[in-house]
Amino acid sequence: MSRPETSRTAGRVDVERVSIRLGEGAQAFDAVQALDFSIAPGEFVCILGPSGCGKSTLLGALAGHLRPSGGALRVDGQPVDGPSPARGMVFQHHTLLPWRSVLDNVAFGLKMQGVDKAERHRRAHEFLALVGLQEFAGRWPNQLSGGMQQRAEIARVLINRPRLLLMDEPFGALDAQTRARMQELLLDIWTRVRTTVVFVTHDIDEALFLADRILVMSPRPGRFIEDLRLDFPRPRRAGLLTSPGFTHLKRHCLDLLRHEEGRELPRLTPLGLPDDPPPLRIAL
Ligand SMILES: Nc1ncnc2c1ncn2[C@@H]1O[C@H](COP(=O)(O)OP(=O)(O)OP(=O)(O)O)[C@@H](O)[C@H]1O
Ligand SMILES: [Mg+2]
Repeated sequence: MSRPETSRTAGRVDVERVSIRLGEGAQAFDAVQALDFSIAPGEFVCILGPSGCGKSTLLGALAGHLRPSGGALRVDGQPVDGPSPARGMVFQHHTLLPWRSVLDNVAFGLKMQGVDKAERHRRAHEFLALVGLQEFAGRWPNQLSGGMQQRAEIARVLINRPRLLLMDEPFGALDAQTRARMQELLLDIWTRVRTTVVFVTHDIDEALFLADRILVMSPRPGRFIEDLRLDFPRPRRAGLLTSPGFTHLKRHCLDLLRHEEGRELPRLTPLGLPDDPPPLRIAL
Protein backbone atom coordinates (compact mmCIF):
# COMPACT_ATOMS: atom_id res chain seq x y z
CA MET A 1 0.00 0.00 0.00
CA SER A 2 1.31 3.46 -0.81
CA ARG A 3 2.01 5.85 2.04
CA PRO A 4 -0.57 8.67 2.10
CA GLU A 5 0.89 12.16 1.96
CA THR A 6 1.36 12.79 5.67
CA SER A 7 5.04 13.66 5.87
CA ARG A 8 4.64 16.96 7.74
CA THR A 9 2.37 15.55 10.39
CA ALA A 10 4.04 14.60 13.67
CA GLY A 11 3.68 17.29 16.32
CA ARG A 12 5.43 18.09 19.59
CA VAL A 13 3.15 18.85 22.53
CA ASP A 14 4.12 21.01 25.51
CA VAL A 15 1.76 21.33 28.44
CA GLU A 16 3.06 23.63 31.18
CA ARG A 17 1.36 23.85 34.58
CA VAL A 18 -2.09 23.62 32.99
CA SER A 19 -5.19 23.86 35.19
CA ILE A 20 -8.73 23.85 33.85
CA ARG A 21 -11.56 25.26 35.92
CA LEU A 22 -15.12 24.17 35.12
CA GLY A 23 -18.51 25.21 36.43
CA GLU A 24 -19.80 28.58 37.54
CA GLY A 25 -19.57 30.59 40.78
CA ALA A 26 -19.77 28.49 43.94
CA GLN A 27 -19.94 25.33 41.78
CA ALA A 28 -16.60 26.07 40.06
CA PHE A 29 -13.84 23.48 40.56
CA ASP A 30 -10.50 22.49 39.06
CA ALA A 31 -11.16 19.54 36.74
CA VAL A 32 -7.41 19.16 36.18
CA GLN A 33 -4.63 20.81 38.13
CA ALA A 34 -1.02 21.75 37.36
CA LEU A 35 -0.51 19.29 34.50
CA ASP A 36 3.05 19.37 33.23
CA PHE A 37 4.26 17.18 30.38
CA SER A 38 5.75 17.11 26.90
CA ILE A 39 5.16 14.64 24.09
CA ALA A 40 7.79 14.02 21.42
CA PRO A 41 6.76 14.16 17.73
CA GLY A 42 5.31 10.84 16.62
CA GLU A 43 4.91 9.45 20.13
CA PHE A 44 1.85 7.35 21.06
CA VAL A 45 0.70 8.43 24.52
CA CYS A 46 -2.24 7.02 26.45
CA ILE A 47 -3.93 8.96 29.24
CA LEU A 48 -5.27 6.46 31.73
CA GLY A 49 -7.50 7.32 34.66
CA PRO A 50 -10.80 6.66 36.39
CA SER A 51 -14.11 8.12 35.27
CA GLY A 52 -14.41 11.84 35.99
CA CYS A 53 -10.68 12.48 36.49
CA GLY A 54 -10.58 15.03 33.66
CA LYS A 55 -9.28 13.02 30.69
CA SER A 56 -11.85 14.42 28.23
CA THR A 57 -11.35 17.89 29.69
CA LEU A 58 -7.62 17.72 29.00
CA LEU A 59 -8.23 16.42 25.47
CA GLY A 60 -10.78 19.18 24.88
CA ALA A 61 -8.13 21.74 25.82
CA LEU A 62 -5.57 20.14 23.47
CA ALA A 63 -8.19 20.25 20.69
CA GLY A 64 -8.73 23.96 21.42
CA HIS A 65 -12.37 23.57 22.50
CA LEU A 66 -11.61 24.60 26.09
CA ARG A 67 -9.30 27.31 27.36
CA PRO A 68 -7.13 26.48 30.39
CA SER A 69 -7.59 28.74 33.42
CA GLY A 70 -3.84 28.62 34.05
CA GLY A 71 -0.64 27.54 32.33
CA ALA A 72 0.21 27.11 28.65
CA LEU A 73 -0.52 24.57 25.90
CA ARG A 74 1.62 24.49 22.76
CA VAL A 75 1.80 22.28 19.68
CA ASP A 76 5.03 22.63 17.73
CA GLY A 77 5.73 25.78 19.71
CA GLN A 78 2.43 27.43 18.71
CA PRO A 79 -0.08 28.26 21.47
CA VAL A 80 -3.36 26.34 21.14
CA ASP A 81 -5.96 29.10 20.80
CA GLY A 82 -8.90 27.37 19.12
CA PRO A 83 -9.89 24.27 17.15
CA SER A 84 -7.86 23.38 14.06
CA PRO A 85 -7.84 20.49 11.54
CA ALA A 86 -4.15 20.14 12.50
CA ARG A 87 -5.44 18.69 15.79
CA GLY A 88 -7.95 16.01 14.78
CA MET A 89 -10.33 14.50 17.32
CA VAL A 90 -11.99 11.07 17.29
CA PHE A 91 -14.72 10.45 19.88
CA GLN A 92 -16.46 7.30 21.07
CA HIS A 93 -19.24 7.94 18.55
CA HIS A 94 -18.55 8.92 14.96
CA THR A 95 -19.48 12.31 13.53
CA LEU A 96 -20.05 11.17 9.92
CA LEU A 97 -22.82 13.07 8.13
CA PRO A 98 -25.64 10.58 7.40
CA TRP A 99 -26.62 12.27 4.12
CA ARG A 100 -23.14 12.00 2.58
CA SER A 101 -21.50 8.87 1.21
CA VAL A 102 -18.53 7.42 3.07
CA LEU A 103 -16.25 8.83 0.35
CA ASP A 104 -17.73 12.33 0.63
CA ASN A 105 -17.53 12.21 4.42
CA VAL A 106 -13.82 11.39 4.24
CA ALA A 107 -13.27 14.05 1.57
CA PHE A 108 -15.23 16.70 3.51
CA GLY A 109 -12.23 18.36 5.18
CA LEU A 110 -10.57 18.85 1.77
CA LYS A 111 -13.81 20.31 0.37
CA MET A 112 -13.69 22.89 3.18
CA GLN A 113 -10.13 23.72 2.12
CA GLY A 114 -11.32 24.28 -1.47
CA VAL A 115 -9.54 21.24 -2.96
CA ASP A 116 -11.12 20.30 -6.32
CA LYS A 117 -13.39 17.27 -6.54
CA ALA A 118 -11.11 14.94 -8.52
CA GLU A 119 -8.19 15.54 -6.17
CA ARG A 120 -10.21 15.24 -2.96
CA HIS A 121 -11.77 11.99 -4.18
CA ARG A 122 -8.34 10.64 -5.12
CA ARG A 123 -7.05 11.38 -1.63
CA ALA A 124 -10.21 10.13 0.07
CA HIS A 125 -9.81 6.78 -1.73
CA GLU A 126 -6.21 6.68 -0.51
CA PHE A 127 -7.24 7.22 3.12
CA LEU A 128 -10.13 4.76 2.83
CA ALA A 129 -7.58 2.18 1.65
CA LEU A 130 -5.41 3.06 4.67
CA VAL A 131 -8.25 2.02 7.02
CA GLY A 132 -9.28 -0.98 4.87
CA LEU A 133 -12.55 0.51 3.60
CA GLN A 134 -11.77 0.89 -0.11
CA GLU A 135 -14.76 -1.33 -0.98
CA PHE A 136 -17.18 0.86 0.97
CA ALA A 137 -16.60 4.30 -0.55
CA GLY A 138 -20.11 4.46 -2.07
CA ARG A 139 -22.01 3.33 1.03
CA TRP A 140 -23.93 5.52 3.48
CA PRO A 141 -22.55 5.72 7.05
CA ASN A 142 -25.54 3.80 8.46
CA GLN A 143 -24.72 0.88 6.14
CA LEU A 144 -21.42 0.34 8.00
CA SER A 145 -20.84 -1.63 11.20
CA GLY A 146 -19.72 0.26 14.33
CA GLY A 147 -16.07 -0.67 13.77
CA MET A 148 -16.23 0.37 10.12
CA GLN A 149 -17.81 3.70 11.07
CA GLN A 150 -14.92 4.38 13.43
CA ARG A 151 -12.45 3.44 10.66
CA ALA A 152 -14.19 5.93 8.32
CA GLU A 153 -14.04 8.51 11.12
CA ILE A 154 -10.29 7.98 11.52
CA ALA A 155 -9.82 8.39 7.74
CA ARG A 156 -11.97 11.56 7.85
CA VAL A 157 -9.67 13.05 10.49
CA LEU A 158 -6.35 11.82 9.02
CA ILE A 159 -7.04 13.25 5.56
CA ASN A 160 -6.41 16.70 7.12
CA ARG A 161 -2.89 15.48 7.96
CA PRO A 162 -3.15 16.46 11.63
CA ARG A 163 0.01 17.00 13.65
CA LEU A 164 -1.88 15.58 16.57
CA LEU A 165 -4.49 12.82 16.62
CA LEU A 166 -6.64 13.11 19.75
CA MET A 167 -8.74 10.05 20.56
CA ASP A 168 -11.30 9.98 23.38
CA GLU A 169 -12.17 6.34 24.11
CA PRO A 170 -12.66 5.81 20.36
CA PHE A 171 -13.32 2.07 20.71
CA GLY A 172 -15.35 2.28 23.91
CA ALA A 173 -18.67 1.45 22.21
CA LEU A 174 -17.35 -1.59 20.29
CA ASP A 175 -17.57 -5.26 21.25
CA ALA A 176 -14.39 -6.85 22.63
CA GLN A 177 -13.32 -8.61 19.42
CA THR A 178 -13.88 -5.61 17.16
CA ARG A 179 -12.11 -3.45 19.70
CA ALA A 180 -9.04 -5.73 19.68
CA ARG A 181 -8.95 -5.66 15.86
CA MET A 182 -9.30 -1.87 15.85
CA GLN A 183 -6.38 -1.52 18.26
CA GLU A 184 -4.10 -3.51 15.92
CA LEU A 185 -5.39 -1.58 12.91
CA LEU A 186 -4.78 1.75 14.64
CA LEU A 187 -1.17 0.76 15.36
CA ASP A 188 -0.69 -0.26 11.71
CA ILE A 189 -2.13 3.09 10.59
CA TRP A 190 0.05 4.98 13.05
CA THR A 191 3.23 3.28 11.77
CA ARG A 192 2.28 4.57 8.31
CA VAL A 193 1.23 8.14 9.14
CA ARG A 194 3.45 8.69 12.21
CA THR A 195 1.34 11.47 13.61
CA THR A 196 1.52 12.09 17.39
CA VAL A 197 -1.35 10.31 19.16
CA VAL A 198 -2.94 11.18 22.51
CA PHE A 199 -5.37 8.39 23.30
CA VAL A 200 -7.69 8.53 26.32
CA THR A 201 -8.90 5.33 27.93
CA HIS A 202 -9.82 3.87 31.30
CA ASP A 203 -8.94 0.37 30.05
CA ILE A 204 -5.51 -0.70 31.34
CA ASP A 205 -5.08 -3.48 28.73
CA GLU A 206 -5.82 -1.03 25.92
CA ALA A 207 -3.31 1.53 27.22
CA LEU A 208 -0.57 -1.08 27.71
CA PHE A 209 -1.17 -2.61 24.29
CA LEU A 210 -1.08 0.66 22.36
CA ALA A 211 1.22 3.14 24.03
CA ASP A 212 4.86 4.15 24.04
CA ARG A 213 4.02 5.87 27.25
CA ILE A 214 1.11 5.99 29.70
CA LEU A 215 0.28 9.05 31.78
CA VAL A 216 -1.78 7.86 34.75
CA MET A 217 -4.20 10.38 36.28
CA SER A 218 -5.63 10.64 39.78
CA PRO A 219 -9.33 11.39 40.45
CA ARG A 220 -10.59 14.96 40.86
CA PRO A 221 -8.77 17.21 40.48
CA GLY A 222 -6.95 15.26 37.77
CA ARG A 223 -3.18 15.23 38.27
CA PHE A 224 -0.53 12.95 36.85
CA ILE A 225 0.59 10.31 39.31
CA GLU A 226 2.83 8.31 36.97
CA ASP A 227 4.59 8.62 33.61
CA LEU A 228 5.13 5.02 32.53
CA ARG A 229 7.39 4.27 29.54
CA LEU A 230 6.73 0.98 27.76
CA ASP A 231 9.31 -0.85 25.72
CA PHE A 232 7.23 -3.78 24.46
CA PRO A 233 8.51 -4.49 20.94
CA ARG A 234 6.46 -3.46 17.92
CA PRO A 235 4.54 -4.57 15.93
CA ARG A 236 2.34 -5.56 18.85
CA ARG A 237 0.05 -8.53 18.51
CA ALA A 238 -2.50 -10.27 20.76
CA GLY A 239 0.14 -12.57 22.35
CA LEU A 240 1.54 -9.55 24.20
CA LEU A 241 -1.58 -9.47 26.42
CA THR A 242 -0.60 -12.68 28.20
CA SER A 243 3.17 -12.09 28.42
CA PRO A 244 4.75 -11.86 31.92
CA GLY A 245 5.99 -8.29 31.34
CA PHE A 246 2.49 -7.16 30.35
CA THR A 247 0.86 -8.86 33.34
CA HIS A 248 3.40 -7.32 35.68
CA LEU A 249 2.71 -3.77 34.43
CA LYS A 250 -1.03 -4.40 34.42
CA ARG A 251 -0.87 -5.29 38.11
CA HIS A 252 1.16 -2.15 38.76
CA CYS A 253 -1.44 0.05 36.98
CA LEU A 254 -4.31 -1.69 38.79
CA ASP A 255 -2.64 -1.05 42.14
CA LEU A 256 -2.10 2.61 41.25
CA LEU A 257 -5.71 3.16 40.19
CA ARG A 258 -7.14 1.18 43.13
CA HIS A 259 -5.06 3.17 45.57
CA GLU A 260 -6.25 6.46 44.06
CA GLU A 261 -9.88 5.37 43.83
CA GLY A 262 -9.70 4.21 47.46
CA ARG A 263 -8.79 7.76 48.48
CA GLU A 264 -11.93 8.99 46.69
CA LEU A 265 -14.51 6.51 47.99
CA PRO A 266 -17.06 8.17 50.25
CA ARG A 267 -17.13 6.83 53.85
CA LEU A 268 -20.14 4.59 54.24
CA THR A 269 -22.51 5.85 56.92
CA PRO A 270 -24.43 3.29 58.99
CA LEU A 271 -28.05 2.94 57.95
CA GLY A 272 -29.22 3.19 61.59
CA LEU A 273 -31.03 -0.17 61.63
CA PRO A 274 -31.54 -1.69 65.07
CA ASP A 275 -29.48 -4.84 65.68
CA ASP A 276 -32.58 -6.95 66.31
CA PRO A 277 -35.71 -5.97 64.39
CA PRO A 278 -38.85 -6.10 66.53
CA PRO A 279 -40.75 -9.40 66.31
CA LEU A 280 -43.64 -9.50 63.88
CA ARG A 281 -46.99 -9.20 65.60
CA ILE A 282 -49.86 -10.86 63.88
CA ALA A 283 -53.27 -9.69 64.94
CA LEU A 284 -55.72 -12.59 65.02
N1 LIG B 1 -19.07 21.55 31.35
C1 LIG B 1 -18.87 21.10 32.58
N2 LIG B 1 -19.28 21.82 33.66
C2 LIG B 1 -19.09 21.36 34.91
N3 LIG B 1 -18.48 20.19 35.19
C3 LIG B 1 -18.06 19.44 34.17
C4 LIG B 1 -18.23 19.83 32.82
N4 LIG B 1 -17.70 18.85 32.01
C5 LIG B 1 -17.23 17.90 32.86
N5 LIG B 1 -17.44 18.24 34.13
C6 LIG B 1 -16.98 17.49 35.32
O1 LIG B 1 -15.55 17.57 35.28
C7 LIG B 1 -14.95 16.37 35.71
C8 LIG B 1 -14.04 15.84 34.64
O2 LIG B 1 -14.84 15.42 33.55
P1 LIG B 1 -14.26 14.63 32.29
O3 LIG B 1 -15.42 14.42 31.37
O4 LIG B 1 -13.09 15.36 31.77
O5 LIG B 1 -13.79 13.25 32.94
P2 LIG B 1 -13.27 11.92 32.22
O6 LIG B 1 -12.01 11.54 32.91
O7 LIG B 1 -13.23 12.11 30.75
O8 LIG B 1 -14.40 10.86 32.63
P3 LIG B 1 -14.97 9.59 31.79
O9 LIG B 1 -13.93 8.50 31.91
O10 LIG B 1 -16.23 9.23 32.54
O11 LIG B 1 -15.23 10.01 30.38
C9 LIG B 1 -16.10 15.44 36.06
O12 LIG B 1 -16.27 15.47 37.44
C10 LIG B 1 -17.30 16.01 35.34
O13 LIG B 1 -18.48 15.74 36.04
MG1 LIG C 1 -14.30 11.26 29.17
